[in-house]
Amino acid sequence: MSQSLRTVVTMEELFSARNSLPGTVGLVPTMGYLHEGHISLVRRARAECDHVVTSIFVNPTQFGPAEDLEKYPRDIENDTRLLENAGAELVWTPTVKEMYPDNFQTWVEVEKLTKPLEGAMRPGHFRGVSTIVAKLFNAVRPDKAYFGQKDAQQAAVIRQMTRDLNYPIEIVVCPIIREPDGLAMSSRNTYLDSKQRQAAIVLFRALTQARKSFENGNRDAESLRKIVKSVIEEEALAQVQYVSCADYDTLTELDTINRKALLSLAVYFGKTRLIDNFILG
Ligand code: PAF
Repeated sequence: MSQSLRTVVTMEELFSARNSLPGTVGLVPTMGYLHEGHISLVRRARAECDHVVTSIFVNPTQFGPAEDLEKYPRDIENDTRLLENAGAELVWTPTVKEMYPDNFQTWVEVEKLTKPLEGAMRPGHFRGVSTIVAKLFNAVRPDKAYFGQKDAQQAAVIRQMTRDLNYPIEIVVCPIIREPDGLAMSSRNTYLDSKQRQAAIVLFRALTQARKSFENGNRDAESLRKIVKSVIEEEALAQVQYVSCADYDTLTELDTINRKALLSLAVYFGKTRLIDNFILG
């Protein structure tokens, strides 16, 4: 059953609302423009915690200079309706000034884990993510925090930061939610035109084909990377940026898959960059 959702903007309002919540608190941090993937996190938090706090903040420090901060989609009215229906009771929508006041100069940086994959393609991205997530953790003081498996490296970085900085918070990583044709849900899917949207299902097809090969006993990481690449390269509108088959925890590239692995990719359709992944083993 949905309950009424309260919106707070300032840090002071957040603190006072947070202090009035007894029992366990689950935090679902978001950048808004919510879809079923985010809502699945809220529902999981609802099932596991006494209260669900969410945040909507398009965090400027995790966007590179050539990225889409200004045109990042926003729809706060629809977001609050979805959050309320999913059972969130508090949404924090801070301003940029609230989170990064003048003379802001303290950053949280996870070192090794942020070097490969998304970190290599998007310099500074994870510094922005870990800094804002640390600020959200400090302000909300949740018992559990919920993230999606779609941003697999982000989840690994946040797990590492939580351990390293001794946050008493359980990080819960929830499965990727997909459209009926297999495309992983993402706010960025709205940038695709209809031809690109159709073409983008090649990502799921490519990952599925590699997983089949893995399930049939193929443990050669390079051969799985090649399967993914070759399927995607058949699609004229797709431009592969990377395909990786790496250790699930450390994200170092594997030769042989002899432990839990992350098969992941980043692919451009026009100017839109999509990521996706499967866990193997
Ligand atoms: O995954 C996201 O939406 C963002 O990176 C997060 C975790 C809300 C931090 O801005």
